[in-house]
Amino acid sequence: MSAIPVVLDVDTGVDDACALLLAALHPGLDLRAVTCVGGNAPLDDVVRNTLRVLETAGCGGVPVGVGAARPLLEEPVDARHVHGSDGMADLGLPAPTLTPDARTALDLLRDVIEAAPDDERVTVVPLAPMTNLALLARVHPAAFARIGRIVFMGGGARISNATAAAEFNVFHDPEAAAIVLDACATHDVTVAMYGLDVFYDPLVTDADVEGLRALGTPVADLAAGLISFHHRRFANAGATIGDAGAVAMMLLPDAVRTERRPVRVELTGTWTRGRTVVDTRDWSGDMHHDPHGLAPAQVDVALGIDGPRIAELWLRTVRGEV
Ligand code: BDR
Ligand code: CA
Repeated sequence: MSAIPVVLDVDTGVDDACALLLAALHPGLDLRAVTCVGGNAPLDDVVRNTLRVLETAGCGGVPVGVGAARPLLEEPVDARHVHGSDGMADLGLPAPTLTPDARTALDLLRDVIEAAPDDERVTVVPLAPMTNLALLARVHPAAFARIGRIVFMGGGARISNATAAAEFNVFHDPEAAAIVLDACATHDVTVAMYGLDVFYDPLVTDADVEGLRALGTPVADLAAGLISFHHRRFANAGATIGDAGAVAMMLLPDAVRTERRPVRVELTGTWTRGRTVVDTRDWSGDMHHDPHGLAPAQVDVALGIDGPRIAELWLRTVRGEV
């Protein structure tokens, strides 16, 4: 099988770093570009962290585009209480020698998507607030329409984190998420949602971290540092690979159970702004009489996962066994 062409859109981020390692190092994926957006940390930190991870992975040839520093309407909020003060586990890593691409994230996305032939369309994987993708939909709609598939980390049918109702990436920029889902419906782009219902299931243990440290390669050391930071922060012997699960979903589609459901983003609720409203009704009678009408976006929502299998794929990749 030929490698799947992908672009990752990230706010690196401990678990974005885990995702970058998987996308950069697994031979089943062809990482064509990475674009950055403010989210877990301010944009400058996100760019530095992203370049650091790619340099450690030996992927200096992958262009990195600098994107939006803030959401469309909301004031920026970060998640350094989760990811550390530098946004990536405070590992004291040296500054990268790599530098970003001269193009903005928007132009880089457009160029990479438009360069792909029809039979090799690019899968775009937003693992962060979807500001860059929403701007692409508005500024370069023809490029958006050429996206082969979107697999995003965000939202949840039942589970939330940033607020009682909303997941961080969607909460951070709800308008962007709504624009992207609508654009997927308009342009007939297939979209999958890897949300919090499955996000916490692929776990890496203390023993796995010890194994990585024993290997002692730069990639294994970085992977061990990222995971053990979360072990300490959450006083837990198992940490999720988080965003990396969305990347793994492309490699092991049968390890994730999805259902195609209409999804909307709540934009106005006082306590529910940023919630992904996943329509799980199964009686067409109710659905057809819904005064709101059905959400235009039909999304492949991840509702179940083989966590150990996904975690093992990530571990084998960062150990250099694939
Ligand atoms: C998401 O928010 C960020 O903290 C993580 O990187 C992940 O993308 C989880 O809600
Ligand atoms: Ca992220």
